[in-house]
Amino acid sequence: MFRRIYISMFLTFFSVTITDMIWAAEEEPIDGAEVISLNCARCHNTRTIDEFTIQEWAVIMPHMRERAHLTGEESRAVLRFFQTIKQSSEEHSSSNGNALRTGEQLVSAYGCVACHSYAGNGGKAVSLDNVITRLGEDFFRRKLQNPQFNNSATPMPKMNISEEEIDQLIIFFRDI
Ligand code: HEC
Ligand code: HEC
Repeated sequence: MFRRIYISMFLTFFSVTITDMIWAAEEEPIDGAEVISLNCARCHNTRTIDEFTIQEWAVIMPHMRERAHLTGEESRAVLRFFQTIKQSSEEHSSSNGNALRTGEQLVSAYGCVACHSYAGNGGKAVSLDNVITRLGEDFFRRKLQNPQFNNSATPMPKMNISEEEIDQLIIFFRDI
């Protein structure tokens, strides 16, 4: 009798843990971006993701984890975010014959919504509502080409986004 209760408690615990792990796996890129946003511009300018290979980042991160006092999970989340972004720019629309992704797909592929909110999504402090109307297309393009152009201390990392993809993002945000 008691043994059965223990076993079922164990199974319940186990399945909750597994569910949490799967859930966490889906949330990974978002967590990583948040960690970057909160930590990585505190001591130095945010580094360009493509400045280092993922193998180099894997060596750098434990070092920065210590400096920034991150947990192991936070540090791994940052690495996974870098990996997602790198993968995303490797799948560059057009340059390698891939179909051009829509603005909405790009917003998710490049993790914008992990640090920004728009049209009620994301719920983060920096809103991109009306961003094109407020700041203009030129500003938007320059911000994506080099986020530090107007703010050297920005936590927004420089990403390798193609010009055609920026065009798609402009079309998308024009209507937001
Ligand atoms: C508490 C301060 C501090 C924080 C927070 C911090 N760094 Fe650093 N970072 C440094 C210092 C100091 C150096 C240069 C000396 C060194 O390598 O330790 C550095 C160097 C680097 C380098 C260059 C490494 C190289 O080999 O050229 C990268 C890349 C980097 N940091 C990324 C990050 C990322 C990503 C984060 C956020 C997770 C972060 N840093 C958070 C202090 C910090
Ligand atoms: C790691 C977090 C992070 C990611 C990822 C990120 N941003 Fe940002 N972004 C910020 C922060 C923080 C600011 C505000 C500080 C500044 O102006 O640089 C900002 C500012 C901006 C601005 C200027 C807004 C204004 O009102 O001045 C635009 C436009 C922008 N981001 C677009 C994007 C787009 C599009 C993406 C995805 C391709 C993206 N960002 C990804 C953190 C991020």
